Order: sequence, then C-alpha cells, then structure tokens
Amino acid sequence: MIYAALKTVHVLSIIVWIGGMVFAHFFLRPAIAQLEPVVRVRLMHDVLGRFFKVVLVASLLTLASGVWMLGRVAKQVVQSGGSFDMPVTWTVMAVLGVAMVAIFMHIRFVLYKRLGRAVAASKWTAGGAALAQIRSWVLINLGLGVLVLLVTLMRWTA
Ligand code: HEM
Repeated sequence: MIYAALKTVHVLSIIVWIGGMVFAHFFLRPAIAQLEPVVRVRLMHDVLGRFFKVVLVASLLTLASGVWMLGRVAKQVVQSGGSFDMPVTWTVMAVLGVAMVAIFMHIRFVLYKRLGRAVAASKWTAGGAALAQIRSWVLINLGLGVLVLLVTLMRWTA
C-alpha cells in the first residue's frame, strides 16, 4: 500500500514536471515569440515563476519518493536474507533523476534570478538572454526526462 502510494506520487510529480516543460517549450514559447520583448520577457517571468514553484515541490517529491521506494525494496531483500542488486534501469533512473533535480535547481536559483534582476531593471535584452539560457537547460532536462521514461517503461538495459 505504501509502495503503491509512493509510486503514484512519483509518477504524478513526473507528469506535472515533464508535461509543464513540454507545454512551455513547444506551445507557449512559439506562440509568444512575436510579442514585443517588454511584454514577452515580463510574461515569461510571471509564467515561469508560477511553474517553478510547482516544479520545486514536484522535483523534491520525485527524489524523495524514488529514494524511499529504493530503500524499502533494499530493506526487504536484506531482511529476507538476500543481497540487494539494484536493477540497471533503476540505477539509470536514479543517476539521471538526480542530474535533473540539480539542473532544475540551477535554472531556478541562478538563471531565473538573473531573469528577475533583468525584469526589475527593465533590461529586456539581458532578460531575453536569460530566457534563452533557461530554454536550453529546460530542453536538456526534457531530453533526460524522456530518456529516463524510455529506459524505465521500455525496460531498456545496456
Ligand atoms: C530522482 C531519482 C529517482 C529515483 C531514486 C527513482 C526511483 C524509482 C523507483 C525505486 C521506482 C520503483 C520501480 C518499480 O517498482 O518497478 C521508480 C518508478 C518509476 N520512476 Fe523513478 N526514480 C527517480 C527519478 C525518476 C525520474 C526523473 C523519472 C522520469 C523522468 C522517473 C520515472 C519513473 C516511472 C515512470 C516509474 C514507474 C515505473 C513502472 O512502474 O514501471 N523516476 N522510480
């Protein structure tokens, strides 16, 4: 029961995180590309601020639920006298998952702050540059996320 609840939290968090990245990158960004920089940068600052609050929670829930599930399985195996060999797919998920969380923290606490400073100073060129950096890292995180999903759900192993 606890395991099922952890997995549900894990997958729901991933859906919000990856779904939001897909929406921002493929639908929102192209739709507002023609707007004046002052409007576009302000709008993206507001939208990303709201999205990143949710992703902060979702990414920490992903990490916590994932580590908790690993711990439960490892404990059960050891308690029943076996030795815990982590499946390759889980190792890939854990390593890339931690990388995704680290990248998100960089986006949120370095690049988004840079964007905020540019907006506060009405420096729209600097704001556009910060947005471009955010976009590149979001794309990398989206790629890693999709890779983890393929490895995990298709049971791809080396
Ligand atoms: C942050 C580190 C992460 C850890 C430690 C972790 C660990 C785990 C564990 C132990 C499971 C249970 C597997 C099972 O019962 O078969 C699981 C399930 C799952 N994880 Fe992660 N995970 C992490 C990040 C991620 C990320 C970033 C994604 C996707 C982008 C992801 C997607 C999934 C999916 C889809 C499942 C369900 C798999 C299934 O039931 O077939 N995880 N994770």
